[in-house]
Amino acid sequence: MSRFFITTPIYYVNDVPHLGHAYTMVSADALARWHRLNGEEVFFLTGTDEHGLKIAQAAAENDMSPKEWTDRLSPRFQTAWKRLNISYDDFIRTTEPRHYETVQSFLTSVYENGYIYKDLYRGLYCVSCEAYYQESELAGGMCPIHNRPVTVMEEENYFFRLSAFTDRLLEWYERFPEAVRPSSKRNEALGFIRQGLQDISITRTSIDWGVPVPWDSEHVFYVWYDALINYLTAIDYGRDKARFERWWPNVHHVIGKDIIRFHCVWWPAMCMAAGIDPPANVFVHGWLLVGGEKMAKSAGNKVDPLELVDDFGLDAVRYYLLRDTNFGSDGDFTYEALTARYNADLANNLGNLLQRVTTVVANKLGGRAPRPVADSPLAGIASHALNRAQDSWNKFAPQDALEAVWLLIHETNARLEEVAPWKLEPGPELENVLGDALESLRLVCIAAFPVMPDAASAVWSRIGLDGSPKDQLAPASFHWGRYQSQKKIEKGEPLFPRRK
Ligand code: MSP
Repeated sequence: MSRFFITTPIYYVNDVPHLGHAYTMVSADALARWHRLNGEEVFFLTGTDEHGLKIAQAAAENDMSPKEWTDRLSPRFQTAWKRLNISYDDFIRTTEPRHYETVQSFLTSVYENGYIYKDLYRGLYCVSCEAYYQESELAGGMCPIHNRPVTVMEEENYFFRLSAFTDRLLEWYERFPEAVRPSSKRNEALGFIRQGLQDISITRTSIDWGVPVPWDSEHVFYVWYDALINYLTAIDYGRDKARFERWWPNVHHVIGKDIIRFHCVWWPAMCMAAGIDPPANVFVHGWLLVGGEKMAKSAGNKVDPLELVDDFGLDAVRYYLLRDTNFGSDGDFTYEALTARYNADLANNLGNLLQRVTTVVANKLGGRAPRPVADSPLAGIASHALNRAQDSWNKFAPQDALEAVWLLIHETNARLEEVAPWKLEPGPELENVLGDALESLRLVCIAAFPVMPDAASAVWSRIGLDGSPKDQLAPASFHWGRYQSQKKIEKGEPLFPRRK
């Protein structure tokens, strides 16, 4: 059985999740679900990133210890993801003992392999921030936050010899051109590498909220250095060799474009330094913008995904997130666009199709569902749409997969309008057109399931099928003509009532 290991970034717990985070999660969830439908063994990992200055400061502002703060905030992510129906298999917290153990054993290997050394770090330091600044980040020579003079500080730090990996990384990307997708993002990663890489400071002595350096108790690891290693903690690196080798290096990291440098430059180099293969794939999505700006706590333009779910329904929000933005490009969130998508694609296209078919079957055929026709004109259209959806899912292009599925819905509606079964008397013509439409709906349920698991299951049972689209095996279940209802079909309330 083939395997699919998919990860999301782990989220900083300095705030509650917003729609931008939800976008990453729904993308990864749909991909995980698609691969499960394909009969693959899937391991879907997410979690929270709990160390570093940012968290320590958020805790202090709330009069709590960092541990108390993260214990309070991390479950909010789990609750939000449950409500968004994110089907993760493991949730990692970087404050867990299993993670400390993995970080220490991984970085000890890097140290023993000669890629970590101690040196003086010299930088411009703001004592109020307890952080270093680049010259370019200062505002008129002062700390941009406190407007106070910065001091030149020297601190002993451990450094990672990133500069040793420039050529090896370039060779790696040459050999595996698909390692970062889409290709525009691969070029961005290559751009960073070609500029030349400098060694990076990977420990701190000024804060103690982090994983201790095992060979020098004065130091803790810098937050990014511990965070990236979560991907290995969850598959038992250094603890269970067989399990680690089952999942690594065929991993698929889904990330936002702001963290390309960490995932596509630092992380593969760290893996090389520890003597393991770099991750096989990184899939980079764009940002969700609001009013042209990245949605973020600091920008004050956050949208709460759970409020949208209360308003529009879960699967409508999931659908909108994946349908409206091409994976890889930036997307603009607007309430108007969400409403327009909802009305056009869900209330009108899908909702109408279901409503029309079930109503006519209930009214004219006493709820007894007819079978599809083997050589129906819709069969070719369906096969084309499903091939395209399958291809798109395999290429991490959810927007295109959904477009293909909605084309089938559109064509099925067009056929109903042409034949107008509501005007026909019971007989073969009526039965054929309804049987075909039911078969289209069956196929739509399977192909849209990764994005809309609840709605697809609801349609599935409304058209009289047992079980769930979840248990269908793609692509075998995509063959035209398998629809056969075991139950009487009744017309129900609209699944997606039209919105004003
Ligand atoms: N903790 C690091 C990741 C460590 S992974 C080893 C981090 N956390 S984050 O909470 O700031 O961001 C997590 C993810 O959310 C990133 O992929 C980021 O791109 C994504 N997004 C945050 N805001 C976003 C938007 N407005 N739009 C889309 N994705 C966004 O970075």
